Amino acid sequence: MEFQFSVGPLFKHSLCKLNNYLDIESVTSDGGEREVTRTDRRMVNPLSEVINRMGEASAKAQRLNVPITTFEKLQNSDNHHVYLIVDRDFKNGKGAVVGLLKVGHKNLFIIDEAGAQNEVSPLCILDFYVHESRQRLGFGKHIFDFMLQEEKVKPAHLAIDKPSEKLLHFLRKHYGLAHVIPQANNFVVFQGFFTNRPDAV
Ligand code: ACO
Repeated sequence: MEFQFSVGPLFKHSLCKLNNYLDIESVTSDGGEREVTRTDRRMVNPLSEVINRMGEASAKAQRLNVPITTFEKLQNSDNHHVYLIVDRDFKNGKGAVVGLLKVGHKNLFIIDEAGAQNEVSPLCILDFYVHESRQRLGFGKHIFDFMLQEEKVKPAHLAIDKPSEKLLHFLRKHYGLAHVIPQANNFVVFQGFFTNRPDAV
């Protein structure tokens, strides 16, 4: 996704992690360099435009009436992270934002394979979107792997909020997540969810 402004000054490297304080931690695609930028007043408007427009595009792709990811929601949540993948070289350095992934911990009751309810606080995949022009080119895998590394979480320990068919295919292909444990809520978890969980109560 292109913007009227250049995205380079906002995102120093291609893989970025944002928190509710609007700190932007950016890492090179090979993980070799890392930089933390504190968003100053001049950067707030362009950053909010990036988050809001990517959130709207994600909602449209998922046929949702209301975006799951907005700049305001990010600022008001103390345990959510928004990850972005950026093409800084696009159009002679003007740059483009390619993908967005929002994660956060939620307190949930999750049914195990024996049918018992368990109270857990897993990291949840809340919103995931790669721009239509870049889908099926590996950008989704790149940003997802970056998130797993930053959050220090195993794919099987995640809970997925209402995954789309595309996301279910993605999880099966890249992480071997195929065997769903049926739930009474909208979250999807896979076999392995309860194995060696760090947050088991
Ligand atoms: N149909 C079926 N599977 C797909 C499709 C598709 N149109 N697009 C991607 N995939 C899956 C496949 O497993 C594909 O492998 P294949 O091409 O060999 O079949 C694999 O993803 C490709 O991996 P990447 O290139 O790394 O993934 P991509 O960059 O396309 O990102 C994503 C995946 C985020 C799901 C992207 O397709 C997308 O934005 N889709 C539209 C929005 C969406 O459905 N988001 C998830 C909503 S649910 C939630 O956020 C909790």
